[in-house]
Amino acid sequence: MLLLYLVLAWIPYCLAAKRYLFKTCDQSGFCNRNRYYASHVEQSPYSLDSASCRFESGALYATLLKQLPNGSPAQFPLKLSVLKDGQFRIQIDEQTRLEKNINLAREQSADIVRKERYNEAADWALVSDELPLDTSAKFVPSDSKLYIEYGPDHSFTATINFEPFQLSFAVNGDIQIVLNENGFFNMEHWRPRPSNTSEPDPNAGLYESDTGKWDESFGGFTDSKTRGPESVALDISFKGFSHVYGIPEHADSLNLRSTGEQGEHSDPYHLFNVDIFEYEVNSTMSTYGAIPFMQAHRKGASVGVFWLNGADTWVDISRMSSEAGSDTHDQKVLSASKTTTLTHWISEAGVLDLFVFLGPTPKDVYRQYSSLTGGTLMPQLSAIGYHQCRWNYNSEEDVLEVSAKFDEHNIPVDVIWLDIAYTDQVKYFTWHPSNFPHPQNMLAELDKSKRKLVTIIDPHIKIDDDYFVYKHLKETGTYLRNSAGEQFEGECWSGHSVWVDPFNPDERKYWAELHALGGDFAGNASNIWFWNDMNEPSVFEGAETTAPRDAIHYDGWEHRDVHNIFGMAYHSSTYDALIARHKGTLRPFILTRSFFAGSQRYGPMWTGDNAATWDFLKVSIPMLLTNGIAGMPFSGVDVGGFFDNPSPELLTRWYQAAVFYPFFRAHAHIDTKRREPYLYDEPYLSLMRDAVNLRYAFSPAAYTAFYRAHTEGMPILRPLFVEYPDAENTFGVEDHFVLGDTGLLVRPVTEENAAEVQVILPDASIYYDFDTQEVFQGPTKITVQTPLEKIPIFARGGHIIPQRHRERRSLELAKFDPFTLVVYVDENGEAEGKHYIDDFKSYEYQNGMYAYKDLLFKGGRLISQDVEGHQPNSEFLDSIEELVIEKVIVIGLETSNLSSEALIKENGEESTAEIIINSKGSSSAASEILIRNPRVSAGGNWEINLL
Ligand code: NOJ
Repeated sequence: MLLLYLVLAWIPYCLAAKRYLFKTCDQSGFCNRNRYYASHVEQSPYSLDSASCRFESGALYATLLKQLPNGSPAQFPLKLSVLKDGQFRIQIDEQTRLEKNINLAREQSADIVRKERYNEAADWALVSDELPLDTSAKFVPSDSKLYIEYGPDHSFTATINFEPFQLSFAVNGDIQIVLNENGFFNMEHWRPRPSNTSEPDPNAGLYESDTGKWDESFGGFTDSKTRGPESVALDISFKGFSHVYGIPEHADSLNLRSTGEQGEHSDPYHLFNVDIFEYEVNSTMSTYGAIPFMQAHRKGASVGVFWLNGADTWVDISRMSSEAGSDTHDQKVLSASKTTTLTHWISEAGVLDLFVFLGPTPKDVYRQYSSLTGGTLMPQLSAIGYHQCRWNYNSEEDVLEVSAKFDEHNIPVDVIWLDIAYTDQVKYFTWHPSNFPHPQNMLAELDKSKRKLVTIIDPHIKIDDDYFVYKHLKETGTYLRNSAGEQFEGECWSGHSVWVDPFNPDERKYWAELHALGGDFAGNASNIWFWNDMNEPSVFEGAETTAPRDAIHYDGWEHRDVHNIFGMAYHSSTYDALIARHKGTLRPFILTRSFFAGSQRYGPMWTGDNAATWDFLKVSIPMLLTNGIAGMPFSGVDVGGFFDNPSPELLTRWYQAAVFYPFFRAHAHIDTKRREPYLYDEPYLSLMRDAVNLRYAFSPAAYTAFYRAHTEGMPILRPLFVEYPDAENTFGVEDHFVLGDTGLLVRPVTEENAAEVQVILPDASIYYDFDTQEVFQGPTKITVQTPLEKIPIFARGGHIIPQRHRERRSLELAKFDPFTLVVYVDENGEAEGKHYIDDFKSYEYQNGMYAYKDLLFKGGRLISQDVEGHQPNSEFLDSIEELVIEKVIVIGLETSNLSSEALIKENGEESTAEIIINSKGSSSAASEILIRNPRVSAGGNWEINLL
């Protein structure tokens, strides 16, 4: 026994999700049926009725016919549109349901449930549903096909085959994406509920199984499914592509793995937002968020698809060999790659709404996608600083002591967080009466160092007739309803609760009132920011830990229709509330756990309840890279791990990796030991401080990267394949990344006791070790020694990185501090970079109050000029007159011909600055030239000449 005890005690802490709470594909009726369909289909029963084709304002309207074994074909209206930036949109609805020509299976739902397929996902996900069409697209019909030529120089072709219905997409004649090539396209047509559901369905379609079509039971819950089977599915083949990325959120690899019987995972990737307690790494299980966007990349081509559906969705992935030169509809697969990635998308409900992006570069794909769903919110500067959280800081004194300790130990921090215990019995918009009696005093104290306080506000509302929020929901009926149309009740942190319905405009209006300064939330102040948690929504002991699929939202939509959008709708209602709180003058900060395509417009997300293990540190990188690809780059993970206690080494390595996370927050479960960095001994304390300081030093470059994410949809942390799209050896790399446009290539240490790591320097650039300035010629793979203080960072020659080197207590206090420009020259002694500056908090940049500079170094001259098309407004330039460059550091330049002083020209005036040559002391280190105090303005146009 003793031996057994000792063995058990030594088994490392091991997480395991409660798998039995969640359906596998097999247990999910619609997933099961569509996999069955895919393995039985011989000939797709769908064809396009050529007589129905109608061209109107740049779009094609037609009817798809689905052959049925009994009776006349079912009809599905189709719309194809070509959009301005080369995006292609396919929309398919179902005629019978559209006409509401159906009986619901449950008579009692007739008045309260909508009969149509859900068609409002686009209203939530897209910036606008008025998408500009490409009127120059050429539609060329023939008897059996239709060709559409579009995109840059008409280099894109969409070929629509009428029978069977298929669509293929080619770039310069090379087919890259094919839809329904394998005939998995399936829209389950409406049919009446048979009187005996255990008998075969007399109205079944071809290749259809009868599994789980009607009332579906799982885990003790029965889903009434009053509209019957209504799934929508499609196969999308990426021809010649072996790498596919995206569809967050999963704790899995960057390059998505194959699924199914032959795959590495048996279940498809699942997109169904849930509060998954103790989620596992290397899994396709759902977690808290869902973005149905996928990118495929190979040398010379990058493409993407966006499956706009907010219902429960599964995606199977398999790889198969494809012969170059094989024919599909008169066009050829030209790629030499022998692999095709076949994906099968399966959603429980809704219309089909699919966007196809043909790139051809990763940058084009991100722009094409983000112009639809929006760029990431431009954060206030403080939001990209360091955030200190735990469940919980227990009182006002506790909060202020944490803040003071950071000061005492010279560690900057911008935001301190309060978890649920700040409230009175988890009634949101209240304060715990004895622990937080004077929130306004605490907030004023934090404001002295320009620190913010985040309070958590979740969507569950305690049922208590004396609680004003519940009273309002009850009176107005603006909560989520159960399938009988009554208030839906369940359990969460606040005990027995109801849930707000953020799809209801009246509820959203009330939400704004709750957040107003001077409103019912006493003590609310402009340095209170927000945290929206549990918004999948999480329902303890609920069906699959969430709201029932047959619960009813505003306007009669079932929860199944909008499940994956709920979190975003809730997040956006808080966003709208904060816009109203400051009349549109301050950029809101709201962290969300649940998200969907478009959530990036409202604030950051984090990856929920991870654990203090090396595996979770490691998987954080592919998870954040995947989010960046899928348009949600403002993302982070609980640094240190939520569950359990990290060793000091793990915590230190985590801080080092998090220097580069777009969102950097330390957080921990209520049962963990306190772990604020100042509680640690040396060397850990200093190393964590160094990490936070390094983040603050890079903040101007990170802020510039946010601007590019905001305006162009570019990821902030970029996988190597994005920066090196032709380097095939990088396509599967998920432990390295590049920060924005800085060229900084980072390979954080994510292994315990790692004495060394391998770093790939993918192309023929010069690379400089960030610490030693030792020079490496790429392409190469090097071994880097990794004592605890080492973060392997390599600066790629040819880049200029704006930085700030003065140490401050918070980023907002550093707002007017001067900048340093660090120039890493390439083999020709040249470099370039970008620098974006605004007032760091308001929306005035939308009125031209910003500067966006191109920095160029060539022939010994550093030039600052406006990025083309970005002329700063003079009022803004006046407002930042004091904001100057205090140092320029040039690394790697030949020093023999230098002048003793740099000659500076700005606004027609000349001045000089001292040049100092520093040595790093090692012969393999690059030279370092320091130009002291040139005092050129950060927003201005100027030049500094070294020769
Ligand atoms: C779940 C969240 O994921 C976690 O971060 C938080 O601490 C708890 N809810 C308590 O609010």
